[in-house]
Amino acid sequence: MKGVLLSGGTGSRLRPITHTGPKQLVPVANKPVLEYAIEDLKEANITEIGVVLGNKGREEIQELLGDGSEYGVDITYIVQGNPLGLAHAAGCARDFVNGDDFVMYLGDNILNEGISDLVESFEAGKYGAGIALQAVDYPGQFGVVDIDDDQNVTGLVEKPDDPPTDLALIGMYVFSPAIFDAIERLEPSWRGELEITDAIHLLLDDGYEIDSHVVTGWWKDTGKPEDILEANRLVLEETTLERRGTVEDGAETKGRIELAESAVIEDGAVVRGPVSIADDTVVKSGTYVGPYTSLGPNSTLDGIHIENSVVIGDSTLTASGRIVDSLLGRCTNVESADDHLPEGRRLVVGENSQLKL
Ligand code: TTP
Repeated sequence: MKGVLLSGGTGSRLRPITHTGPKQLVPVANKPVLEYAIEDLKEANITEIGVVLGNKGREEIQELLGDGSEYGVDITYIVQGNPLGLAHAAGCARDFVNGDDFVMYLGDNILNEGISDLVESFEAGKYGAGIALQAVDYPGQFGVVDIDDDQNVTGLVEKPDDPPTDLALIGMYVFSPAIFDAIERLEPSWRGELEITDAIHLLLDDGYEIDSHVVTGWWKDTGKPEDILEANRLVLEETTLERRGTVEDGAETKGRIELAESAVIEDGAVVRGPVSIADDTVVKSGTYVGPYTSLGPNSTLDGIHIENSVVIGDSTLTASGRIVDSLLGRCTNVESADDHLPEGRRLVVGENSQLKL
């Protein structure tokens, strides 16, 4: 069994963060989203992994993952280029897969229970594909499956007006090599993409059985800023957080805090976990860092009140106001306006930003 990890795409829903880098590298609890996928594949004993790259952030992704040896896996890079659809991305991996079964994992997804059960379930039968499903509140926004009383998949529909079930396809699949012939027969959908649901449908039409595995733990597609914040909350909630850095006398710390070795919480600062603070970040006196916040590396917080937020790193936050539910890109500078200016907010904001003042 091989792994194909999709790391291309446009990332338009995560702009402006994705103007400068791929969304799969956005950190959740100070770890790039893509690393969670690598760990899940490794845990399922899949160590030969093809990473599909788009046009954006190819170098950054290769710089992070290298040849995979740091993670105990073997990585091959596959260039897709333009995001012509999930089935197109899978098709680009045909030579790498070379006749094996493979897991296809969307690189911006996080799943707390991993993929071992999905893989085992697929391997226990003779299937053309295995799909991971989860019951969702708004199935019309997803690819949805129809199943019979014996849990056999009988149909798949992409974003249906009248969903046959509430079971949505989530971003992990197992395929037999038969999927490649199905992909070759696909025509682009109304949105101009080669759809993986259409390819799985062709397998059904060809008489292959499709295994379905309902995922009961949480699953997060980190495609939008609010999803990153929620994934950050979920991961901080359940991981073991270690304090290795410096907490000065007079600092007030409560709850679980991950403090990297060179991070400092100074005398007079208040940090209430769960919180993650990366290397070379200093929380200065008069600052409050509240629950579900991840502070990336090399940042200074001085006098600010921040909670339920992700600061990606290399940032300086010195304003005296409150920042809540926010995602701050790399090299962000938040400071108070000069006192002598009339009441007002001075903003330097990138394209497609959303501000709630
Ligand atoms: P999506 O989130 O569906 O697409 P996107 O990345 O273009 O995002 P947006 O809708 O915000 O513009 O993609 C799911 C995952 O699959 C993501 O990790 C990117 C990856 N992907 C590819 O590698 N190639 C592709 O052709 C597509 C469409 C997605």
